[in-house]
Amino acid sequence: MNKYLILANPGHNRIYFDTAMRVSNMELLAISEKAGFKIEEIGEGIEELPHSIMITTKEKLNNDQLKAIGTSSIYYAMFEMLEEGILRPIKCPDFHYFPESMVQILKYNGKTNEQFTRLMVNLALSVCGTSSKKITLLDPMCGKGTTLYEGFMRGFDVRGVEINNKWVQEIQTYVTRFLKEGKYKHKAQKSNITAPKGKKLASGFTLTAAADKNDFKKGDVQDFRVYSCDTTQSGSLLGKKSVDIIVSDLPYGVQHGSKNKEDENMDRSPLDLLRRALPEWHLLLKTKGSIVLSFNEFTMKYDDVAAVLEEKEFKVLDYEPFNGYLHRVDQSINRNVIVATK
Ligand SMILES: C[S@@+](CC[C@H](N)C(=O)[O-])C[C@H]1O[C@@H](n2cnc3c(N)ncnc32)[C@H](O)[C@@H]1O
Repeated sequence: MNKYLILANPGHNRIYFDTAMRVSNMELLAISEKAGFKIEEIGEGIEELPHSIMITTKEKLNNDQLKAIGTSSIYYAMFEMLEEGILRPIKCPDFHYFPESMVQILKYNGKTNEQFTRLMVNLALSVCGTSSKKITLLDPMCGKGTTLYEGFMRGFDVRGVEINNKWVQEIQTYVTRFLKEGKYKHKAQKSNITAPKGKKLASGFTLTAAADKNDFKKGDVQDFRVYSCDTTQSGSLLGKKSVDIIVSDLPYGVQHGSKNKEDENMDRSPLDLLRRALPEWHLLLKTKGSIVLSFNEFTMKYDDVAAVLEEKEFKVLDYEPFNGYLHRVDQSINRNVIVATK
C-alpha cells in the first residue's frame, strides 16, 4: 500500500476550514474516480502534521493523478509516507493557466468562498461525461464572478449570467485590468443580444485571452463572456448544448451587496426561481454535462431542490461522494450542495 499525506490549505477562512476538512474527503474521492485511481482508505493524517489528510492507494500515483489531487480545494502540499515518520515532499504538477490570484484578489460582501467554489467545480468535472476537448463552464447567477475566475484560471471557456448589470460591468473592468497588468494578450468587446423581435435581451461583453502570447497569435484562446440578464431567459443567450458544466451559488434569500432596481425583480422564493430557470439551463447544457448548485437550506431543502431538478429531467446523484455537503456558513446560512447530470 502507498500512503500519502495532503496538508490542508490554510487559506480557508476559519469557519469554512473546519467544514473543508470534512467535505474534502468526499471531494478527493470524486476526483480520484475521475482520474482513474482508487483511494482505499481516507482519513485524518498524522498528529505531527496538523490539518492533514491521509490517503492510501494500491498503486503508486502517476503525474496525472497527482495533478488531479493538486486541483482539490484542500490541497496545499503533499508528502509520500516512506515509512513511519519519514515523509518525502511531492510536487503535484501545476494545473493553472492564469495565476491563482485571479480568483483571490477581489474581496466583497456576498463573495462565494474561493475554495468552496473550487470544490463545486471539481464535483462538476468529476461527473461530467461530455467529450469536449476544452471545458465550457457556465455560472448562470454569477454575482461578481468567482466561479468564472476559477474556471478561466484553469483553462476553461467561461460564461456568466447576472441580473445586476453593475456587477457585469465590474467583472469586465476587473478581468481587463487583471490581464493588462499581467501583460496577457487579450481582446474585449461589448456584446448585446437581441431577442427575435429585435428587443434587447441582454448586454454584456466577450473577451478572448491566452496565457501564452504565441497561443494568442495562433487563435488558440480562451473565451470569457458575461451577460446582464434574468437567468430565467438565459436559454437564448448562448448556443444550445454549448456548455459542459454549470456551477452556481444560488441566491440565499439574504441581502448581498447594494439594493438597487434590479433586485426588485428578483423572485421571492429561490426555489421558484430555480424551477423557472432550469429548463433554460437544460437547453444550454450538453448531453452528459453536469450541474452543481449550492443553496441555503433555510430557504430550500435538498429534497425539494432534487425534486425540481428531476422534474426538469436532470439526474440527481444523491449518494456518496456527491451528497452530504451540508455545512454552516453563518447564522442565516446553512449551505448545501447538489450534484446532477443531464
Ligand atoms: C449568491 S450570489 C452569487 C455570488 C457569486 N458566486 C460571487 O462569488 O460573486 C447569487 C447571485 O444571483 C443573482 N441573481 C438573483 N436572481 C437572478 C436572476 N433572476 N437572474 C440572474 N441572476 C440573478 C444575484 O444578483 C446574485 O449576484
